[in-house]
Amino acid sequence: MDFYGRDFLRILDFSEEELNYMLATAKKLKAMKKKGRNHKYFPDKNIAILFEKTSTRTRCSFEIAGYDLGMGVTFLDPSGSQMGHKESIADTARVLSRLYDGIEYRGFDQKVVDDLAKYSDVPVWNGLTDECHPTQALGDFLTMEEHFGKLKGLTLAFVGDTRNNVANSLMAMSAKMGVNFIACGPTELKPSDEIIQKCQPIAEKNGCTITVTSDLAALNGKADVIYTDVWLSLGEPQEKWGERIELLKPYQVTTELMNKAKPTTIFLHCLPSFHDLNTSIAKDVKKVFDIDEMEVTNEVFESERSLVFDQAENRMHTIKAVIFLTLYKKEEK
Ligand code: CP
Ligand code: NVA
Repeated sequence: MDFYGRDFLRILDFSEEELNYMLATAKKLKAMKKKGRNHKYFPDKNIAILFEKTSTRTRCSFEIAGYDLGMGVTFLDPSGSQMGHKESIADTARVLSRLYDGIEYRGFDQKVVDDLAKYSDVPVWNGLTDECHPTQALGDFLTMEEHFGKLKGLTLAFVGDTRNNVANSLMAMSAKMGVNFIACGPTELKPSDEIIQKCQPIAEKNGCTITVTSDLAALNGKADVIYTDVWLSLGEPQEKWGERIELLKPYQVTTELMNKAKPTTIFLHCLPSFHDLNTSIAKDVKKVFDIDEMEVTNEVFESERSLVFDQAENRMHTIKAVIFLTLYKKEEK
């Protein structure tokens, strides 16, 4: 298996074996970090991380992963660079790929990250687009594997805005890894036919199922993992809050929903999450819509079944694996 020089743009670009290898590499790098073992493999390399949307986990994960691997890391956003307003993304990519050994990009249209990869001579890593969030799915599956000791045969239910970027990558990852996937939400927000058509044959080949439903009862006795995400994603207009709350309020993850699944069901969320009123957005939404908790209740979020902070940590270990594998030249070993 050779990852050297490859881009990491979407889960569907990789085979089950390759994705398993990424998870195994993440586990090794995580163990090295925990034991305090030096893994500064790239003291002569530098990476650029480009963010057109805000981020805490993804930005910090790329920065820490880079530093742990011995590299220099440059953060660029539209306010501190020419990117987007004075220089096109394609030109930015061509400049940066002359200077850096790898480029991370978070932004809007998937075409932008695809074009970056096209114009760049160095690996490009997708740190989230409107279409997908592949490094998130890797971190989530590492968390599931660590918790359950296996992936094949598990059932992952994504509840809420089932056509968003996180849900798309989880459906693809589930199909590849033999995990049954349930997309449960209002029909107005169901996954696109395109993503289902791409994932369904892969799931069939790997002996797992993809279910799209608006009926929460589909989770009862079945879901090993209940996963949700914010009701309004980065880049979507704030005016949509009213419509989304009305559509998605019935799909809030509650203790009752968790209890109806399995006694062993865990809760996952990519974060950030509106589970209380301790954010300015949640406070603003409360003023207009009088809602204290959104996609998940605070009770579930803070419960022992919630592994959301393990997930957040695993973002870094899996991102480090992606950087390591795509920059490490086999003959240098
Ligand atoms: N989960 C995730 O991508 O978080 P950030 O938006 O903080 O990077
Ligand atoms: N769906 C969310 C994920 C954030 C990590 C968004 O795009 O804002």
